[in-house]
Amino acid sequence: MKDKINQLLEEVKQFKAESADSLEQFRIRFLGRKGLLQDLFDAFKELPGDQKRDVGQLLNVLKNEAQDKINLLKDTFESTEQGSVADNDLTKPANFREPGTRHPLQIVRNEMISIFSRLGFTVNEGPEIEDDWHNFSALNFPPEHPARDMQDTFFIEKDPDIALRTHTSSVQVRVMENNKPPIRSIFPGRVFRNEAISARAHCFFHQVEGLYIDRNVSFADLKQTLLYFSREMFAPDTQIRLRPSYFPFTEPSAEMDISCNLCGGKGCGFCKYTGWVEILGCGMVDPAVLENCGIDSKEYSGYAFGMGIERITNLKFQVKDLRMFSENDLRFLKQFESAG
Ligand code: DAH
Repeated sequence: MKDKINQLLEEVKQFKAESADSLEQFRIRFLGRKGLLQDLFDAFKELPGDQKRDVGQLLNVLKNEAQDKINLLKDTFESTEQGSVADNDLTKPANFREPGTRHPLQIVRNEMISIFSRLGFTVNEGPEIEDDWHNFSALNFPPEHPARDMQDTFFIEKDPDIALRTHTSSVQVRVMENNKPPIRSIFPGRVFRNEAISARAHCFFHQVEGLYIDRNVSFADLKQTLLYFSREMFAPDTQIRLRPSYFPFTEPSAEMDISCNLCGGKGCGFCKYTGWVEILGCGMVDPAVLENCGIDSKEYSGYAFGMGIERITNLKFQVKDLRMFSENDLRFLKQFESAG
């Protein structure tokens, strides 16, 4: 009888059901009321006492194996049958997925890229962790010069200095080092400064830097480019004005204001009743910077400008608190263009 049970055990192990039907036949043959196991248990009762223990154990093993096998195969049939029905039923409603929205900074960044690309500017990016050369020295910030304090730097290492870049002007240097003029490119990216976080300041924000290097590039070219940008970004009647300023890497340098886009230049709380709001810094690239980057300053000249994306976004969407940009509050984020 043991041989018979072992033989059946082997049969159970080998069994593979091709369909739910063949599985049901298997179940009836082994576990049905008139099935093989029932017959075996009946025969077991007639056995002499000294054989009962071994045979009984073996019979139980067979019974459990058969039951386990049936449960396992039943599961696979059920799940694939259900799955295939769901997949093929094209009349079922689709799962609803809420579409995301673009971040307001991303909307403005994309618009800037689109405006400048219409003027032939390409896009380049550089690393957020920078060495002293690219963030400061090549840009004409002499060592120990107070101009370095214009930007509160997060240092990662000292001697040699490695820091989180304080502006995207660092990418100017990389692009000039690696390309021959003419160069016409913008550099969007995140920058970092060690400032206390408030409604008006943050320890990280975003900038877009612009650079144009060629023969005979003049300040008039810079002015016209910035006027075009301002009118595309804000309104076709936007006015600009340039005020003399200082940056170590440009000479001459200027800051640019646009006519306040909220009051149209008449004067309001936003522009502090001046009619103008500052949006960027700019200037002609200092010949020393060109030379630092391997460009002959007798042959080439160029302009550069840099602006904060948050600032432009605030002007377009009147976001009063800078912290909103990084808090991921859906009530805020959902107010902007849908990503679709
Ligand atoms: N890097 C300057 C800043 O972060 C902005 C800037 C000013 C960039 C003048 C320029 C420029 O390219 O010419 O404050």
